[in-house]
Amino acid sequence: MRQVVLPDGTAVSAVGQGTWYMGEGGRGARAEADALRLGIDLGMTLIDTAEMYAEGGAEEVVGQAIAGQRDRVFLVSKVYPHNASRSGVPAACERSLKRMGTDVIDLYLLHWRGGVPLAETVAAFETLRAGGKIRRWGVSNLDPADMRELLGVKDGAACAVNQVLYNPEHRGIEFDLLPWQAGKGIPVMAYSPVGQGGRLLKNPALAAVAKRHGATRAQIALAWGLRHPHVICIPKAADPAHVRENAAVADITLTPQDLAEIDAAFPPPKRATRLAML
Ligand SMILES: NC(=O)c1ccc[n+]([C@@H]2O[C@H](COP(=O)([O-])OP(=O)(O)OC[C@H]3O[C@@H](n4cnc5c(N)ncnc54)[C@H](OP(=O)(O)O)[C@@H]3O)[C@@H](O)[C@H]2O)c1
Repeated sequence: MRQVVLPDGTAVSAVGQGTWYMGEGGRGARAEADALRLGIDLGMTLIDTAEMYAEGGAEEVVGQAIAGQRDRVFLVSKVYPHNASRSGVPAACERSLKRMGTDVIDLYLLHWRGGVPLAETVAAFETLRAGGKIRRWGVSNLDPADMRELLGVKDGAACAVNQVLYNPEHRGIEFDLLPWQAGKGIPVMAYSPVGQGGRLLKNPALAAVAKRHGATRAQIALAWGLRHPHVICIPKAADPAHVRENAAVADITLTPQDLAEIDAAFPPPKRATRLAML
């Protein structure tokens, strides 16, 4: 599995596993945990979750998946903006740790920007880090102006990633945020990289490229995100067939012709646009 290097030198799998909608009863927690375990075995050792997902239910599924193999996994979770205060962050973190059955989170993210000043959230993250509860912290859904502000607050430059929506249908970050973060060595963690399995995967341009590679459209969407060395993709898959497909994408390299056809179907941004988020 290809790796992406975080600002502190830690290498993580370029394809990780999302968990939104896990723990909600869909396929059942056991099947979801099995899917995550299969993904870990196939090298997708980064797992992304959040206290928001199923209000803790997804973290419990993650806890089942990593039981007995915590050290193989790079664990990412997120705090709600309304919990992102001095006192709220450590309390939320303790609840997340308990649900996942671990004593440390590898990367703890602010899920999106809310009313708590960034400086206060960063100070709370740094206290958690000093206390060994988290190994590093980052943010999610921050636009370029937010990121500049973040890097200006005390310890803000320790931000490890910004997790944002990125797939061929939503490529506005290529105009500003992505190159800016690349310049700072802060990876982009691309969420919804296969467009939540919806309209994106019906696109004829993706289908044509997929056919040439003997791959699926989802694999082409992922390979497209991964063409940039600073991007980590975190597809969510509870279906074991999807898990296998996603783990195999690192073997696919898109050609200039492939990229041109995808550009024709999903034109790259020509100007700054508002950061898209789900
Ligand atoms: N920070 C944020 O605000 C934010 C927002 C959204 C998402 N996220 C994170 O990013 C993760 C991924 O985003 P997402 O869940 O929104 O969307 P996604 O990963 O783009 O899509 C997930 C959907 O696509 C299907 N799928 C996965 N692999 C597939 C494949 N190879 N072929 C066909 N279908 C496939 C899945 O089906 P099955 O489950 O049936 O396999 C599921 O229905 C989330 O789970 C979450 O961890 C973060």
